[in-house]
Amino acid sequence: MYLTKEEEKMYRGEYGLTHEWAMKFLVSYGEAFNAERLTRISSAGVSWSVWTMGKIPEEVYEGLTRMKMAVPTYTVAGGMPDAHWKEMGISKEDWEKQVESTKTAKSMEFILTETCAPYLAGWIPIKGSHIATVESSCIAYFNSVFGARTHRDSFPSCFASAITGRTPYFGFHTERGRMGNLLVKVEAEPLEQVDYEALGYYVGEIAGLDVPVFTGIPREVEAEHLKGLGAALATSGGVGLYHIVGVTPEAPTLKAAFGGEKPKDTISVGKEEIKHGRDLLCTGGPEKVDFVMLGCPHYTVKQLARVAELLQGKKVHRDVTLWVFAPSAVRHTGDVMGITDVIKKAGGLVLSGTCPCGARKIPPNTKVMATDAAKQAHYATAYFPVDMWFGSVEECVNAAITGQWGDRQ
Ligand code: F3S
Repeated sequence: MYLTKEEEKMYRGEYGLTHEWAMKFLVSYGEAFNAERLTRISSAGVSWSVWTMGKIPEEVYEGLTRMKMAVPTYTVAGGMPDAHWKEMGISKEDWEKQVESTKTAKSMEFILTETCAPYLAGWIPIKGSHIATVESSCIAYFNSVFGARTHRDSFPSCFASAITGRTPYFGFHTERGRMGNLLVKVEAEPLEQVDYEALGYYVGEIAGLDVPVFTGIPREVEAEHLKGLGAALATSGGVGLYHIVGVTPEAPTLKAAFGGEKPKDTISVGKEEIKHGRDLLCTGGPEKVDFVMLGCPHYTVKQLARVAELLQGKKVHRDVTLWVFAPSAVRHTGDVMGITDVIKKAGGLVLSGTCPCGARKIPPNTKVMATDAAKQAHYATAYFPVDMWFGSVEECVNAAITGQWGDRQ
């Protein structure tokens, strides 16, 4: 791989052990994908919590904690809450370790967004800018909705990129690598939030690592819809970039989205396929619900406000735990607006910094869980011995109030 003089110096260890590790990591990574060179990045997103630190060699970690990154570096989707650790069942020992590691992150001048949706907390890379980040749902959002450019990066590769300010130039960083190759004709309207989740889950399984191009999605599609669609595409499949003709920035026309080439395949998705996607996410167990999780990827203010609206004047059932996850920046806005107070008064909890799958924690004795998120439904049934109901936020809040899936209030 071609390296500039400065990159060569890093590679040879002239900038110290940490830069040497980082540059050697990026070169091996790039060579595995036939990258001919590196490209500079404008910002990076890293996962920073007590659970993930062990993935970097100890001697490198020591140097890392004493340096500043080459580019603005945001913390993305940690495995620990920023408060409410007792409620989530985190041990005091682990919480104290987390407090220490947050202090270190501050001294390194990380921007503590601490969310899987860092674009809701101020990380806004512009179209065409090269970045490096972890977290499959935010990778899909940055690539597709913002038109920024990132690989499906890993925990160590993001650190290597943050340290050096570079990433290997291949795949989604190139014009060619961003072209669509699978045409998805959506033939169902109108689509609600829950439909976008199910649509993504259905298509992701077919797409795998492809770049799907959607037609039939209205221009009025909202940021929350795309947040759920991308997260679901990256859950049943490995989709890191999608286009929506007439909506996303690199797909003004069908021709532009495919770079003038023909799609290798075409699929049509109607109401039946969307229902199938939804059914795949339910295990079909007992209807008595113990735990309702909302906010995957972390909720926007608008989503938080909808939950408050549904809970206004109501109480969460005494046998149900309701956890709602939002970035701390969003939670703060919710505090100012009085939204979080409504949720709290009803018996729910608004949490930040992680989620049940991130922290590997659910309320004790949970046998049946409900969520409005395809990604959470998918992973929670893999991590915990639970039955799952997947549905709209209205269905989930209803289950939190009645203690039953499908029961009317
Ligand atoms: Fe975020 Fe957890 Fe979902 S980290 S995307 S809320 S699985």
